[in-house]
Amino acid sequence: MHELFSEERSADVVAASFAGTPDPRLRQVVTSLVRHLHAFVKDVELTEEEWAAAIDFLTRTGHTSDAVRQEFVLLSDVLGVSMLVETINHRSGGTGTESTVLGPFHQVESPERQLGDDIALDGKGAPCLVSGRVTGPDGEPLAGATVDVWQANADGFYDVQQPDVQPPGNLRGLFTADDDGRFWFRSVVPRWYPIPDDGPVGQLLAATGRHPNRPAHLHVIAAAPGYRPVTTHVFVADSPYLDSDAVFGVKESLVRDVPEVDDAERAAALGLPNPFRTLTVDVTLLRA
Ligand SMILES: [Fe+2]
Repeated sequence: MHELFSEERSADVVAASFAGTPDPRLRQVVTSLVRHLHAFVKDVELTEEEWAAAIDFLTRTGHTSDAVRQEFVLLSDVLGVSMLVETINHRSGGTGTESTVLGPFHQVESPERQLGDDIALDGKGAPCLVSGRVTGPDGEPLAGATVDVWQANADGFYDVQQPDVQPPGNLRGLFTADDDGRFWFRSVVPRWYPIPDDGPVGQLLAATGRHPNRPAHLHVIAAAPGYRPVTTHVFVADSPYLDSDAVFGVKESLVRDVPEVDDAERAAALGLPNPFRTLTVDVTLLRA
């Protein structure tokens, strides 16, 4: 006969119920989950009211999620779990561009664009030339690398958050690097923004005295055949909240100055007003 449930032995008893799981990885994950969950409940001696509140919180988190809003990703983000999973799975050893969280706003495919295109379809914000080069670990240019970018607009919202305000695909683009691994496009300087805080995750932040803000950043996914893709951001050096990102995404190596350039000829050639800002995004990919 199997051992019956007791407070002292609860984790062992429940873990044993999963001992027959055929997939060894699933068995490992579910067993560890049970052990940590039971240790947590015992640590705080969870009350029945708190248990009910937790069930209600998770239920509302699910109900708040849809095709363009992912409240569970947000929850994972503010608990630092997204960043931890990302970090564990992309230990680069300091030789490739560091990764950071995907975030909840890459829910739509970025529209394919040509080098030099302007992705700021709403025309708001400080004009900015974004340019860079995708290379391998020895500096070899990765011709034809794809560079997928997305960012918030000058008001701090992504297009999917404001379908009635922003044109679809605003501040998103999928670019293909040239033969020298270079890419460039026109945009605006990204702005810091609050993560959506009108749902359960926002209530959690408010109840714990945390602000919901993320420092200004541009999201980037760079990929090339034969190399490991990287999902990352570049952060604007003079942005507020660099040291208190609500989702813990900042890494020092990803912070960039966005200097102003005053060069009427270059501005005209690029189709930008003068002066304009410049953001350089060089990316190093590791071999697969
Ligand atoms: Fe973002």
